[in-house]
Amino acid sequence: MANTKADHWSSEKYQNAAGFVPQLTTKVLEYLSPQPGKRILDIGCGDGQLTTSIASRVTETGQVLGLDASPSFIATAQKSNTLSQLNIELQDCTKLDQHELTNGDWDKAFSNAAMHWILRAPETRTSFFGDVYRALKPGGRFVFEMGGKGNCAELHTAFTAALTTVGDLSLEAAREASPWFFPSVDWMRKALDDVGFDVLVCESEYRPTKSTESRADGSGGLDGWV
Ligand SMILES: C[S@@+](CC[C@H](N)C(=O)[O-])C[C@H]1O[C@@H](n2cnc3c(N)ncnc32)[C@H](O)[C@@H]1O
Repeated sequence: MANTKADHWSSEKYQNAAGFVPQLTTKVLEYLSPQPGKRILDIGCGDGQLTTSIASRVTETGQVLGLDASPSFIATAQKSNTLSQLNIELQDCTKLDQHELTNGDWDKAFSNAAMHWILRAPETRTSFFGDVYRALKPGGRFVFEMGGKGNCAELHTAFTAALTTVGDLSLEAAREASPWFFPSVDWMRKALDDVGFDVLVCESEYRPTKSTESRADGSGGLDGWV
């Protein structure tokens, strides 16, 4: 897939600023429960650390496909991949319907810390869940973790204030500039329900995380994280 968007992600900076992200996954991986022989999609797989651990659990009899829109992350993930059951592809996941994966042939779909980016545009919020649903076999499972309502509320407030006062943007334009969508549990439950998912668990967890040290190269700290 051709990708013409600027790539703001860098594997090294991600490790410095947000290395905690793939580590806080015990619960979501428990829900996913990757078993030998299963076919699993990882939506927004980043540099592939988690994808690799999922792929090793499905063993050579299974298959894992990691998709991400960042050429930098995809290059890192492909370079470090040594597993025959793991494939990594560059793909904008707001457009999953353009990929042959919406063929109902996957046992499970997974996403960690990526959907608050993927669902940023309102039009994606209606198409995305249907695409994932169509990618799954009947009875398939979708397990994900993402930022929820109120996430980084202080940061959002500070950005909005800076953009309206210093940047001279309207309040609406400042809110629009946010790179993330943090939905409520009720919103998510309905979005899943609307396309036919039977929602077993949808919950919000308070998970404070400490910012790392800022570094001169722009990695780490709040700069690197945002
Ligand atoms: C915080 S990282 C999480 C990466 C990985 N899942 C992990 O747990 O380490 C967010 C990821 O979402 C990806 N992403 C954002 N928008 C995307 C889109 N439209 N399509 C595919 N991936 C996207 C980014 O490229 C980035 O790799």
